[in-house]
Amino acid sequence: MTRSLVMATSNRHKVTELTQLLTGLSWQVQSLQDYPAVAPPDEDGATFEANALHKALYYSKLLGAPCVADDSGIMVDALSGAPGVLSARYAGPGCSDADNNARLLHELNDVPESRRTARFVCCAAFAEPDGRTHVEEGIVHGRIGFAAAGDNGFGYDPLFIPEGHQITFAQFTLSQKQAISHRGRAFRKLRAFLESLP
Ligand code: IMP
Repeated sequence: MTRSLVMATSNRHKVTELTQLLTGLSWQVQSLQDYPAVAPPDEDGATFEANALHKALYYSKLLGAPCVADDSGIMVDALSGAPGVLSARYAGPGCSDADNNARLLHELNDVPESRRTARFVCCAAFAEPDGRTHVEEGIVHGRIGFAAAGDNGFGYDPLFIPEGHQITFAQFTLSQKQAISHRGRAFRKLRAFLESLP
């Protein structure tokens, strides 16, 4: 019998990335669109792990199905790890990706290249309706550029230059990004865990 797994995210960019990362899995992967609309949970945890677990458990209990959820963001060393868990709303409630990128560039205005180091972090959580959970983490190190570049991806991709490269994630193809990204790393580990379940 094929088991079903719900990707518990309403971020369309994440759905695109997770669909590619979970393709070929022996589970039948569904999205929230396959279920009646439910209100999203609060995301006020102090860590990526707490938020990812909260989202996966919330949707799993509500939908009565195993769910995967991620919580992710960017941590900038010169800003003591900010924006971190507040990455999605760094420029304020209802802000756009462009607003967030503008704020980040502004905060780093006087910061030289050598101190613009940053990392993307992703916690990928799996939860079953009975409360069982499993979490994996993925990290990619890099630095923040001086101006936005590239049209692919989402969020802070136009500003993030991964270690060992001279172009931003927004100038990578989706497959190139997934090969080294925080989300790619976390979900490849979560995928292996799912495949190992009896
Ligand atoms: P979440 O939906 O609460 O996990 O918020 C994640 C936020 O972190 C997004 O809205 C983006 O601002 C940022 N973020 C996470 N992953 C990525 C990525 O792969 N590229 C660019 N920005 C990302």
